[in-house]
Amino acid sequence: TDAIISTSPGGRIIFWNRKAEALFGYTELEVVGRSLDIIIPERYQEGHDSAIKRVRDKGILRLAGKTMETTGKHRDGHEIAIEISLSFWESNGEPYFTAIIRDITARKKGEEALSQAQILLEDQILERTTDLIRTNEKLKKEITTRIHMQNALEESERKFRVLFNQTFQVIGLLKPDGTVLEINQTALDYFRINYHDSVNRFLWDLRGDQASEANRAMFQEAVAQAAGGKLVRFEAQFRFDKETVRTLDFSIKPVSDPEGLVPLLIIEGRDITERKQNEEGLQESEHRLRLLSSQVLVAQEKERKRISQELHDGIGQYLSAIKYRVEHLILTQSEEKGPSGDKPTLEKVIPVIQGAIEEIRRICMALRPSTLDDLGILATISWFCREFQATYSGILIKQKIQVEEQEIPALLKTVIFRIVQEALNNIGKHSRAGQISLNLTRKGRHLNLDIRDNGGGFDLKKPYSSDNSTRGMGLAGMKERAELSGGALTIHSQPGKGTRIQAVWLLGE
Ligand SMILES: Nc1ncnc2c1ncn2[C@@H]1O[C@H](COP(=O)(O)OP(=O)(O)O)[C@@H](O)[C@H]1O
Ligand SMILES: [Mg+2]
Repeated sequence: TDAIISTSPGGRIIFWNRKAEALFGYTELEVVGRSLDIIIPERYQEGHDSAIKRVRDKGILRLAGKTMETTGKHRDGHEIAIEISLSFWESNGEPYFTAIIRDITARKKGEEALSQAQILLEDQILERTTDLIRTNEKLKKEITTRIHMQNALEESERKFRVLFNQTFQVIGLLKPDGTVLEINQTALDYFRINYHDSVNRFLWDLRGDQASEANRAMFQEAVAQAAGGKLVRFEAQFRFDKETVRTLDFSIKPVSDPEGLVPLLIIEGRDITERKQNEEGLQESEHRLRLLSSQVLVAQEKERKRISQELHDGIGQYLSAIKYRVEHLILTQSEEKGPSGDKPTLEKVIPVIQGAIEEIRRICMALRPSTLDDLGILATISWFCREFQATYSGILIKQKIQVEEQEIPALLKTVIFRIVQEALNNIGKHSRAGQISLNLTRKGRHLNLDIRDNGGGFDLKKPYSSDNSTRGMGLAGMKERAELSGGALTIHSQPGKGTRIQAVWLLGE
């Protein structure tokens, strides 16, 4: 089935079988005696010639017995892939060749297709590999990012922990039912409890037997309110041993999610024992100060009363006695001597003494009207208004007194008088008012004092009195007296709109 061709030492064809005819397109007749070149493509002819020469000269045929692939040439010129196995023999010292030739076009084509497929495959593999490498790279990058993120997370978690645990404040996270989810180191140290006994228990059970029932109820109430979405603040006291009671200022804050539900509560607490003590100390000293200043006021009233009495009973009486003697002297002298030169001189002394007496009385009344103690507050107010009217004749006072003298406690009488005195004096001095309305009325258990003028008013934001010498009984003093006596006093005024002073006291049964 293979083509078989034999050649002579001169390279001429001496045998050509049928298959060779079919393969190369020449008949035996056509080729016998011709050179083998007719079936060798031009580009191989030279190699073929030199090979034959080499064999002839040195008796060496490299390819003998081997199979090799090469290309042959058909009669019509197209090339054919062939496989040749060569053998040679000698006769009379001359080399003869025989080639067995097989058409391998089909195989070649198959091989080519195969190698094509292989290349394609390799391409595909390469592509896939590149893909894989790329994916791999991406994966690696992702992993790195993940690790970074993880680290960052761990770092921030660590920082949070530090903050959570090192803070000055007691902090815990709670479920809305009061179960402890987290608790910080400060809290553990502060309450002398440990983490594992605290987590997953109710907040109010944490301190076990040490917790007071009052605290338990307070915490339950606070948690319930916070779970309802309210920020709750309260103070709680904890007894640590016989001497130590500490106060904590707590807040429970609901953390609400976008749906408005409250999945978490944050409780914070701060020890305010010292602050509390300071505050109490401050309140205490403020209280003492108030007491002191009320005592000062009382002492001042007493002192005024004493001076007033002494002026009245001492100098006043002396003056009255002098006046009486002088008057008597004038009378007796006029009887003895008749109209003489002395009388007019002495008579001139009388009004001077009278003036002195009145001045003393005026000073006494201003210091502390004796009527306040003798006749009461209502009479004193009326007297004071008359006096005021006499001085400021242009200002009309409308009085409305609707309370009984005995309904007003003795201590309040001085206070009320001093307020009326200052208010009216201010109106006289500062207001340019034409009218004053003064009401002292009782409504239920309230005693109201209300003094209004229609004058120029003033700006309340400006500091009250700039004149230090009158301090103690200015507007500030009025307020102070009212408050010290258990009442309240408000001042309303606006430039151009007059001034109103209102004081109110709660009377006992
Ligand atoms: N009835 C009033 N009408 C207008 N101005 C007033 C009235 N009462 C007080 N003032 C203003 O308030 C200031 C403070 O009053 P006050 O404390 O009694 O001090 P003082 O009377 O010694 O000035 C007054 O100086 C005056 O300007
Ligand atoms: Mg004044």
